Amino acid sequence: MERTLVMIKPDGVERNLIGKVINFFEEKNLRVVALKKVRLSKKQAQAFYVVHKDRSFYESLTDYMSSGPVVAMVLEGENAIQKVREIMGATDPKEAKEGTIRKLFGLDKEKNTVHGSDSPESAQKEIPFFFSDYELLSAE
Ligand code: CMP
Repeated sequence: MERTLVMIKPDGVERNLIGKVINFFEEKNLRVVALKKVRLSKKQAQAFYVVHKDRSFYESLTDYMSSGPVVAMVLEGENAIQKVREIMGATDPKEAKEGTIRKLFGLDKEKNTVHGSDSPESAQKEIPFFFSDYELLSAE
């Protein structure tokens, strides 16, 4: 069993896609361990995406991610990190495969509807960013 952090980005929340996005994951046998809707401040978005701080898109990405509410969740399942990445599709919706969330709902590279941890190391940092031990234990 593995856990990963998924975030429904402001474009997904704004277009009322929360249920549809979660359904993609549940249909593939991933379980929601913890879930919350929050509005990130600019500083929080900068902290969450700090690995990208030297990239040209960092400023725009963190403006966007703090522009409206997001839904953060921890999903659990076998090979959850890789599975979520496959269900989401490529970062750029134009390159995402048919049947993926980003192909269906993504608007562009930035407004690509969902984020998922890209490795076990990222998941280990991203899960506690949103959820306390207490919130995670309550799912067991
Ligand atoms: P995400 O999985 O949230 O992780 C970093 C985000 O940066 C990525 O999805 C994209 O939405 C965003 N982004 C914007 N521009 C780029 C780019 N040129 N390359 C990669 N990611 C980008």
